[in-house]
Amino acid sequence: MSSPVRGFSKRSKQEKIDWLIEHHFHNDTLAKQVVEQYWNSDASLQQLHDDFIENTISNFYLPLGVAPNFNINGQHYTIPMAIEESSVVAAAAKAAKYWGERGGFKTEILGEEKIGQIHFIYTGDAHKLKQFISEIKLQLQIDVASITRNMEKRGGGIQSIELRDKTSSIEHYYQLHLTFLTADSMGANFINSCLEELAKRLKHYVQEATIFSAAEKDIEIVMSILSNYVPNCVARASVRCPIEELDVEEGLSKRAFAEKFVRAVAIAKEEPYRAVTHNKGIMNGVDAVVIATGNDFRAVEAGVHAYAARNGQYSSLSNAFIDGDDFCFELSLPLAIGTVGGLTKLHPLVKWSMQLLGNPSATELMQIICVAGLAQNFGALRSLVTSGIQKGHMKMHLLNILNQLNASGDQKEKATEYFKTTAVSHSAVADFLQNNP
Ligand code: MEV
Repeated sequence: MSSPVRGFSKRSKQEKIDWLIEHHFHNDTLAKQVVEQYWNSDASLQQLHDDFIENTISNFYLPLGVAPNFNINGQHYTIPMAIEESSVVAAAAKAAKYWGERGGFKTEILGEEKIGQIHFIYTGDAHKLKQFISEIKLQLQIDVASITRNMEKRGGGIQSIELRDKTSSIEHYYQLHLTFLTADSMGANFINSCLEELAKRLKHYVQEATIFSAAEKDIEIVMSILSNYVPNCVARASVRCPIEELDVEEGLSKRAFAEKFVRAVAIAKEEPYRAVTHNKGIMNGVDAVVIATGNDFRAVEAGVHAYAARNGQYSSLSNAFIDGDDFCFELSLPLAIGTVGGLTKLHPLVKWSMQLLGNPSATELMQIICVAGLAQNFGALRSLVTSGIQKGHMKMHLLNILNQLNASGDQKEKATEYFKTTAVSHSAVADFLQNNP
């Protein structure tokens, strides 16, 4: 390990790399080459990426794939997916085709509301505070008009301001709990700017008010920040078809498949160990589209998992049931995403992905992302309750194993053919390569 470095961020990119190679890679020139070979030859494109974050030394690629043939409410989409896991795009494309032949995906928006909170400490009389907040609420909104004006023109803005008394959980702790609409932007900067300004005004008004004693005036703003938990900013996607139309592998009747599928979801609803993996499968689809469209996947992940635990126990995000003779499968997801702002106009591949999707509005993109999650969950469960997951997964992983074992182009071709009918494993591929030099 190296000793601490001072002023690292002030050094040039080359100096940073030189320092890293000297202190962490024993001056290995190969390590330097690895970092530099991912630089873009277009200097201005590279500069754009350098400027996204601090201390950029190179680019970290993820494959960008596409899953075509998604029929969503009768419209056709090709969905961009940025992800490293081999089987995800293939599974999405397969599910899109499957449901495209059975009426497609139906979606709706259940809400668009975002949340922000000012957390503060007030040691005085609760009734006085309540009365005071209701009196200054309107003024507070007027005070941030310069921030909210443009958002209001786009149909967004502050929807409500509510005082929440949290003193039963933490002594003297209160919140101003605000709801926002942020139109097509994710809204983080807008919400946080409003909150920070409102917090200043709140403190000022309390200090000026004659109804409070000197001790009561001394409110402490602990922090002002949006919440990534957005249980009222939700998209819903569903599929439905007569059980008779389900296409099932041999050995299982259509009804038995439908019932087994429903049971698998019921297990994920009840059993947290299974629910986490079940939901991880959903997030395979969700994150891939969230990343390809330049959105904040950490925010989406945090919000989605909180939503999965909203009833006190971590549970499945999706639901499956049999309604008469129909098989039904649905998913609701809280998604705070945007189609303007952030990276959307900056990152060329994000712009490209948005264009591929027909430059959707934020609510349209929420529905597309939700469909990607449902499709992924369908693909995983369909395999899990029939052939198992490994068959398809290892087939898609074959190329990774071949690359790891330095297979030639010719060997790859032969192996792909051979493993169409043979189970893929690391040792089986190694044996194959040894027998087919
Ligand atoms: C793997 O990335 C995702 C799955 O484990 C999801 C699931 O078990 O439902 C296959």
